[in-house]
Amino acid sequence: MTTNSQVERKDFNDVMVPCYNPMEVIPVKGEGARVWDQTGKDYIDFAGGIAVSCLGHCHPIMVNALQEQSQKLWHLSNVMTNEPAIRLAKKLTEVSFAEKVFFANSGAEANEAALKLARRWAVDVHSEEKSEIIAFKQGFHGRTFFTVTVGGQAAYSDGFGPKPGDITHLEYNNLAELEAHMSDKTCAIMMEPLQGEGGIISPTSEFVKGVKALCEKYNALLIFDEVQTGNGRTGDFYAYQGLGVTPDILSTAKSLGGGFPIGAMLTTTELAQHLKVGTHGSTYGGNPLACAIAEAVVEEVSKPDVLNGVKEREQWFRSGLEALNAKYHMFSEIRGKGLLLGAALNEEWQGRARDILVAAGEQGLMVLVAGVNVVRFTPSLVITKEEVELGFERLDKALASLTK
Ligand SMILES: Cc1ncc(COP(=O)(O)O)c(C=O)c1O
Repeated sequence: MTTNSQVERKDFNDVMVPCYNPMEVIPVKGEGARVWDQTGKDYIDFAGGIAVSCLGHCHPIMVNALQEQSQKLWHLSNVMTNEPAIRLAKKLTEVSFAEKVFFANSGAEANEAALKLARRWAVDVHSEEKSEIIAFKQGFHGRTFFTVTVGGQAAYSDGFGPKPGDITHLEYNNLAELEAHMSDKTCAIMMEPLQGEGGIISPTSEFVKGVKALCEKYNALLIFDEVQTGNGRTGDFYAYQGLGVTPDILSTAKSLGGGFPIGAMLTTTELAQHLKVGTHGSTYGGNPLACAIAEAVVEEVSKPDVLNGVKEREQWFRSGLEALNAKYHMFSEIRGKGLLLGAALNEEWQGRARDILVAAGEQGLMVLVAGVNVVRFTPSLVITKEEVELGFERLDKALASLTK
């Protein structure tokens, strides 16, 4: 094992649980949408830490919030309340349908809280029999055992013994199948208002409105997992606002902290009352440092200029990708919304999304994949035109190297 200042990729294998397979480069510094590795090589960041770094790296607004709060108070626990948590909760209620907020530390934990609230509501208001959670194939909701089982990829939840029960997976965008399946036993439907990990799949307007209507018909709760779509990513503060369908419960994380870990479950006063004192909790949930940073992030991202900027940047990305496709003929479709975009590979390039990710890395560009057939882009919401142009020059070189 090397010393701190000489960390190498091979050290990962020596000391880390092997549930990840990180790339060779070790980034050490970031600013805006640029990152530098140990050797000084620079990268344009079109990945944003998987839809997290919504204001880029080390944005002064976040650095100031962190520095200010770090000199006041770091942690209390929920035995006390704290100012940043209450201020952030107020902000979140101002920018969404929510009246009440529960703070967690990640997307999975926010979803865990959402699912537990739904089940508790059903037991309190209806009966233990109203326990079915419906979710969608290819959906992703986190890695706790409940959330990973609700997620629509059995490969992620298999192999850990008996699973939490009464969870059904149906096809996304198939309203007829959902209609045929739903009953008074359905407790809640959990869905992403644009599937991220599953391949950047938007819901049709008919589907999302139909889901809401069926929830109303069968007295089931609608839970929107906005962990990836939230906090400005699609050009609305939350994606539900662009869909015209309001959920009963919403989970948010990732961009909420702009790079500092925090998650939250948002809901109504009527539902929130079912999580009485002692029914749920978290030591770090509502941590003052996390909340102070998230407060600064929410204030900035909810500005109309930033949200409109996302729509403008979507066009920069779409035209950049279309221009490259005209040259290299690799994509069958550019899809998604705002700055949650996917370039789906055509027949000839099936299964090669990771090759593009690696080739981009070699040219100094960070991109993501969503499955083996989609190259995913989730950059900073305030990425500059210059950074985007430089990133596309590098992507051009990467695609050229693959098509040689
Ligand atoms: C839609 C969605 N839900 C939940 C999660 C899990 O969030 P976390 O990794 O913070 O637990 C993710 C992460 O990719 C996600 O995209």
